[in-house]
Amino acid sequence: MPLLSTRKKPDVQEAPENVVFSQQFPPGFLWGVSTAAHQVEGGNHNNQWSDWEAAGRIRSGDRSGQACDWWNNAERDFDLAQEMGLNALRLSVVWSRIEPQRDRWDTAALNRYRAMLNALRQRNIQPMVCLHHFTHPRWFEQDGAFLAPDAAQRFELFTRRVVEELGDLCRHWVTFNEPNVYGALGYVLGEFPPGRKGEIITAVRVVNRIAACHARAFHAIHELQPGAQVGWAHNYVVFEPANRAFAPDRWIAALLSQLFNESFLSLIEHGRLSFPFNFVITNLKEVKDTCDFVGLNVYSRFHVAFSLKHPSQLFGNVFVPPHVPQGDCGVEKPYGEAYPEAVREAVQSVARLGKPIYILENGVPDAEDRIRPWLMVNAIKALHGTVEEGYDVRGYFHWTLTDNFEWSEGWRLRFGLVALDPATQRRTMRDSARLYSAIRRANGISPEIAEKFCSPSARDEL
Ligand code: BGC
Repeated sequence: MPLLSTRKKPDVQEAPENVVFSQQFPPGFLWGVSTAAHQVEGGNHNNQWSDWEAAGRIRSGDRSGQACDWWNNAERDFDLAQEMGLNALRLSVVWSRIEPQRDRWDTAALNRYRAMLNALRQRNIQPMVCLHHFTHPRWFEQDGAFLAPDAAQRFELFTRRVVEELGDLCRHWVTFNEPNVYGALGYVLGEFPPGRKGEIITAVRVVNRIAACHARAFHAIHELQPGAQVGWAHNYVVFEPANRAFAPDRWIAALLSQLFNESFLSLIEHGRLSFPFNFVITNLKEVKDTCDFVGLNVYSRFHVAFSLKHPSQLFGNVFVPPHVPQGDCGVEKPYGEAYPEAVREAVQSVARLGKPIYILENGVPDAEDRIRPWLMVNAIKALHGTVEEGYDVRGYFHWTLTDNFEWSEGWRLRFGLVALDPATQRRTMRDSARLYSAIRRANGISPEIAEKFCSPSARDEL
């Protein structure tokens, strides 16, 4: 039973399916939402993130708790996705549920995931499964996580088990969510476990080890399921020099972009890192060409100024100017500039791999739905521009379906098309859910939607 209380509909006409718009996407385009297990399932107690929460490391003081209660009833949100007409949904599995202790496998957990995938397919929603979305078992963390000598072997064993059990229900696999974010927030900024700060070289090593795990998983999945499509979700950030006329701002912005946006890509493209980071690890040939598609998670633009006060960030002061469009603020700092054009830059930057591209996350924290409709429509418009230019873009997945536990910000930041009160589990569809549904049903942006959200005055009103 959907616990849905509807607010007034946005005054946007739902487009008839047979009208051809200038901004229509190719047939079969995937319109989805992305989710992550730890953020939605509830009741996860055995991984490094539940320990991080218990240690009081969430800025808002929150715990994931029951989250969106997916472990008991993901189907309630799948009904909403179906109601919106979506044809794809990305979710992840929790390694610590499936292998709670080293070499001890939990069949009941795998069965629950089977039930979820079946429930999606019954609703004509294609699942995409991510194997590692930031969390892993406590035992793996205690062993040193990805720096442990046998990390790649352990990750391959886990992958094999999942694909053996779920492979008949899923064809698209995302091995890792955002190795670059995992490395940067866990080892440079100290905001994710293990909470280390300023350890750029360690972060590069970790990302390399994740690439090795990814490569082993890629081959294992293809061995078990020859028709599988395997990729990873790459977080792409636009680093804008604060003053383009000042060379140090340009250099630092380019260096940060090189490190953050290019490292993992370079490993997949060439099997090695590019200068100057290739001195850390010189050779990872086995990683070259291990992807069938590239997933892109695109949110923000950050501005970068050269600053001697920021040695641990390669002398870059990374900031969000107050006058730019942005969603809600985190507990201590802004989330980032809402910059729809980032989608275009991201697509252009990964196209050289010659693989199909999916936008696997795009969204904004916005409890009042003040800026989300503008961000979403303009990001989709920018994406349509790339399709027109001939880029092989196959899907757009909004982050996210229902408000969920936003990592170190806890429940403070709300990214859902559907608002959630975690205490009562009551759901309320936001206007942007109906807007996204209209876009999906039209397979593109109708002239009315374009007129309402894409004019310069729409941006000025934000
Ligand atoms: C992560 C999500 C997160 C979202 C919003 C992405 O980088 O994959 O797990 O909730 O950003 O911050």
